[in-house]
Amino acid sequence: MLVERPLRPSGPPPPPGEDDGIDRLAAYVHIPFCARVCPYCDFAVVAGKDESTDRYFAALGAEIEMEPSAGSLASVFIGGGTPSRVSRDLLAGVVERLAGRFGLADDAEISLEANPEDWTPEVAAGLVAAGVNRVSFGVQSFDDAVLGELGRLHTAGDARVVVGMARAAGFASVSLDLIFGSPLESVESWRHTVESAIALEPDHVSTYALTVERGTELSRMVAAGAPAPDPDDQADKYQLARALLTEVGFGHYEVSNYARPGHECIYNLNTWAQGDYLAFGLGAHGHRAGVRRRNVRRLEAYLEMLEDGRRPEAGTESITGWDAELERVFLGLRMRSGVAAGAVGDVLASDPDGQALISAKKLEVTEGRICVLDPLFTDSVARVVLGLKPVETGRVAR
Ligand SMILES: C[S@@+](CC[C@H](N)C(=O)[O-])C[C@H]1O[C@@H](n2cnc3c(N)ncnc32)[C@H](O)[C@@H]1O
Ligand code: SF4
Repeated sequence: MLVERPLRPSGPPPPPGEDDGIDRLAAYVHIPFCARVCPYCDFAVVAGKDESTDRYFAALGAEIEMEPSAGSLASVFIGGGTPSRVSRDLLAGVVERLAGRFGLADDAEISLEANPEDWTPEVAAGLVAAGVNRVSFGVQSFDDAVLGELGRLHTAGDARVVVGMARAAGFASVSLDLIFGSPLESVESWRHTVESAIALEPDHVSTYALTVERGTELSRMVAAGAPAPDPDDQADKYQLARALLTEVGFGHYEVSNYARPGHECIYNLNTWAQGDYLAFGLGAHGHRAGVRRRNVRRLEAYLEMLEDGRRPEAGTESITGWDAELERVFLGLRMRSGVAAGAVGDVLASDPDGQALISAKKLEVTEGRICVLDPLFTDSVARVVLGLKPVETGRVAR
């Protein structure tokens, strides 16, 4: 039986329909500091450790200098954690260091994640002066009761003013992150959230199903009997957001992401196209020339390793042959325009589970492309893809 599954956020985001041949370099920079840890969050974050900020940025600078030169960067994503908590000078220093070490393309996208409670006209202007041109606000909901349930520190009122401030400061692109399907949220509350987001006229909106991640406070609460998000409710809310956003002209370019034309997130497009991205900071993951690497997640270990002149790596993995093909399709499936079929396409079309999805009109494998027709089935298709048996990969799709 085919089972619909809620959609979770992808890891930290080719122009639409152009997944083939993307070879522009990106960089991810992780800032782990948060005012407090939200109950659902399983990212590499620390709360109550602001006194380590200067030490952290010194370590981050050292890590950037250790990375072999790589060509200029087309996009930079400063994510978290809460980058908007740290000073404009420290963030500007990171952008300068990346520019000095690798170079920045003239049209480079430089994104930063911000929490609404940190945002002021001065913060916005300082970030623009530092070269940041895209901001992604973690709004999550425009319902204060839902924000309380999510453990957020801002109100709907705080979120209503941030887009205007970002526009006034000169940001080229403004994005809002929304979370749907927390147990207290009604369908009407979610409708209000999406309509409120639309009314602020952002360039980009991400909608994520609340996911109970292992090891989080939320998972402990659910294990102790608290209500868990309901997959049917989340599927309804996913479809509602899709209808509301596309109706007013947002392009649904990726499972969880919507953009006005020309405002798709370049950093994420590169990731989904299996492009190369350098990664710096606590718990950061990078991908370069077929090798994936990940950094340690414990703050003290990260700082000590860099202070000792060592790279803060927790592990590396070389992805080649069939595994690289599976990964390319697994990532590219998220694009609404689909992914080049390559060697995986024929195997998927002849696999019984693949055929069941094709017969149910959830999946299409035609004209050299694999396309998920119903985005709610992206995870189901991905599971089938990851289970496919290897074949000779003389044919390369990108
Ligand atoms: C890691 S957060 C960093 C941004 C910022 N600190 C914030 O919280 O707004 C990036 C986004 O991931 C989403 N997110 C994080 N954990 C999630 C979860 N368990 N379920 C659904 N969405 C989640 C939220 O929408 C959030 O804005
Ligand atoms: S969701 Fe954002 S603010 Fe909350 S703990 Fe995670 S990174 Fe920090």
